[in-house]
Amino acid sequence: MAELVRLFNRFQPDHYDIYLDVSRSEKKFSGKTTIYGNASEAEIGIHEKDFDVTSVSVDGTPVDFNVDNDNEVINVSLGKTGEVAVTIEYSAKLTDTMMGIYPSYYQVNGEQKQLVGTQFETNFARQAFPCIDEPEAKAKFKLALKFDEQPGETALANMPEVKVENGVHYFDETVKMSTYLVAFAFGDMQSKMTETKSGVKVGVFGTKAHDAKELDFALDIAKRSIEFFEDFYQTPYPLPHSWQLALPDFSAGAMENWGLVTYREAYLLLDPDNTSFEVKQRVATVIAHELAHQWFGDLVTMRWWDDLWLNESFANMMEYVAIDAIEPSWNIWEVFQTTDVPAALKRDAVDGVQSVHVEVHHPAEIDALFDGAIVYAKGARMLVMVRALIGDDALREGLKNYFAAHKYGNAAGADLWDALGKAAGMDLGKIMESWLEQPGYPVVNAYVEDNRLKLAQKQFFTGEGKDEGRRWQIPLNANYDQAPDIFSEETVDLGDYQELRKLNGKPFRVNVGNNSHFIVKYDDTLQEDILNDADKLSPIDKMQLLQDLRLLAEAKQVSYADVVPVLKQFADSESNVINDSVYTLANNLKKFVEPGTEDEDNLKNLFRQLSDKQLERLGLVSVDGESNNDKLTRPYILGAALYDDNKDFAEAAHAIFQDHQSNLLSLPADTRVYILANEMKNYSNAEEFDSLVEEYKQSTDPSYKQDICAAVTLTKDAKLLGKLVANFEDSSVVKPQDLRAWFSGVLRNPAGQQFAWDWIRNEWQWLEDTVGGDMEFATFITVIANIFHTRTRLDEFKAFFEPKLDTPGLTREIKMDTRAITSTVELVESEKDAVRSAIK
Ligand code: BES
Ligand code: ZN
Repeated sequence: MAELVRLFNRFQPDHYDIYLDVSRSEKKFSGKTTIYGNASEAEIGIHEKDFDVTSVSVDGTPVDFNVDNDNEVINVSLGKTGEVAVTIEYSAKLTDTMMGIYPSYYQVNGEQKQLVGTQFETNFARQAFPCIDEPEAKAKFKLALKFDEQPGETALANMPEVKVENGVHYFDETVKMSTYLVAFAFGDMQSKMTETKSGVKVGVFGTKAHDAKELDFALDIAKRSIEFFEDFYQTPYPLPHSWQLALPDFSAGAMENWGLVTYREAYLLLDPDNTSFEVKQRVATVIAHELAHQWFGDLVTMRWWDDLWLNESFANMMEYVAIDAIEPSWNIWEVFQTTDVPAALKRDAVDGVQSVHVEVHHPAEIDALFDGAIVYAKGARMLVMVRALIGDDALREGLKNYFAAHKYGNAAGADLWDALGKAAGMDLGKIMESWLEQPGYPVVNAYVEDNRLKLAQKQFFTGEGKDEGRRWQIPLNANYDQAPDIFSEETVDLGDYQELRKLNGKPFRVNVGNNSHFIVKYDDTLQEDILNDADKLSPIDKMQLLQDLRLLAEAKQVSYADVVPVLKQFADSESNVINDSVYTLANNLKKFVEPGTEDEDNLKNLFRQLSDKQLERLGLVSVDGESNNDKLTRPYILGAALYDDNKDFAEAAHAIFQDHQSNLLSLPADTRVYILANEMKNYSNAEEFDSLVEEYKQSTDPSYKQDICAAVTLTKDAKLLGKLVANFEDSSVVKPQDLRAWFSGVLRNPAGQQFAWDWIRNEWQWLEDTVGGDMEFATFITVIANIFHTRTRLDEFKAFFEPKLDTPGLTREIKMDTRAITSTVELVESEKDAVRSAIK
């Protein structure tokens, strides 16, 4: 494997002149780039990838060069050191990998069209122009862009266009920035514009395949997010504009290119009149995330990729801080508690998981850094923990100083802890090191022993795990003052339990607010005390009890059978976070019963008991003026009704479907997926199925498309599922960027599992060729591990994936997923009898 050499050490660019001439019709481009900078050695290397380099000259004189494709470097002999101008002429191909410069394909009124855009993070700028493609190599960029332009087309870049001459679009010079944040795009677009209070132009752009009103929601959120960040960071947005552009083909979710943020269509565009509240929340947080990066990531950038967490964890926290400020009634932190928190707790409990901060020694390891549950979810939770420790005033003060000290430059994790720690008067680096550098997290045992109330910490594993004696500096947030603020020992004795209980007058609890990254196991005495007084707990507190119980059950530290009565205790709650926990837990019971057995009937009965009253209370569709809690709870209840074959639900949903048959898009979006799913599960015929797949192909409404995917994969008709799988490689039906959702849907369906499982094994090479360069390629394997729970599947999984253990970027995933399936299989084997009798 290629070794990692840091080219910045030999050559420090300060300015790029980039000229590009792109031809969509010939699927290629040519370019000429001049890099002005300081050479500290006479032999330098400049990044490129797959270029046909025709000439290199230094200060106007042609020089010798050689292209080292393995290392993606052009080696140039300068013949001198000091200030130089290196000019490189080259040509290259446009590829369909969604990296570098790439076309997006779409249709308007039956006409095939292309929008060309870029994706340069982590290190794909080198596929567009020669550069020192390292985040530390900040420089100013001047772009001149020519393309096979049609009348009415638009060209966008980080900075405003200053002139068009002889078909060449010239853009203003950027500020000092990293190569991975450079971006441009061109094609036939529509847009909407506004301006922030401070005069920053804000725009939303998309193809003309969309209705103009689909741009409105994003425009409003983008404007108000920028205004929020300018205030919160106490640092102005430094560019003249902030464009948000939706690209039909997009590998990640969204990308924070400075001044030209790019998105998947599903994460930017929505029908304001018929989109579920959940999807609106998601789109808003994605926009806020990328705009948080305009400062944290763009203005100040991690020095090297090992600190990717610094960018991503921070933006992941700030998306919630921002949306909570601009839409307080949404209670957006509840979404953090129901998505990021469980994702982090699940993944981080499997032995072999990476730490948030990871050393990077090889280029392939940069891509393997991307573990959403760790770098995003766990990292954000660490920062939430810090925010809870120091408070918002210190956070803002610290950030302001951090931006002032490092703007237009780079920083490492320690710089952030210094800035925040100074503002708070705390040694944050010391506390955070245990969370950043160590994988995993602790379970805190709270127990009464010899009449003393005690705490002990120990690493928590689901499945097999090697205890290496790790300790964490745990912000305890206990509700008894006698507990320490930070618990860093292995055990602590808090004192005489009866006395403490009397003194405090309430059940003992730790991690109040669920902001610290650990779970709690109370002994029977303490647990009973809490449950007896459960009425007094807040929704988050109750959610936390259920969540910790679930993890302890997954780890066989409590019996899954004991969880069943607790579910019933909380099932009538009107809080969305509690219902989320109830149904996450209830859904986890499905693995203990075989499809088509009496046990499954019993489980369906349990679902019925849990959800009946709620279904009656909420009905199938949302009503005007109902609470956000009701809106967000209904999907769990309808999901239960669908699973337990509730006839009344099925008939009512079928009737709504028939009412909307001529225009399914007009089904109420909050419920649409369940109505379509009911149709596919209980009433589907080949004709209806085909017409829904056709709707999927034709529709441009991203959330409607997701609903169709979720519904169609639920059919019980094996023949239809086989037909679906046969379409997986036809990008006119399923775009590669959306394939994982289809694959996962069919694999989860017992009637389709064999087709999907055979497909991925037979077509692995195709998959690798198509999405192999994608950061999220490995998550195809994670999807499998989340579904498989039998020994036969485990054996098949091992037989297929173990020979691939040496594939760069897959090693960790295969090891962890093997462990995860093994632990699920063992759990099912040892607990199934107890669970089956508990649900009788
Ligand atoms: N910078 C990332 C996208 C990225 C990360 C691209 C690493 C290439 C390598 C962007 O800010 C991001 O985090 N996108 C998320 C969506 C986000 C809202 C959670 C994504 O793409 O999943
Ligand atoms: Zn991000």
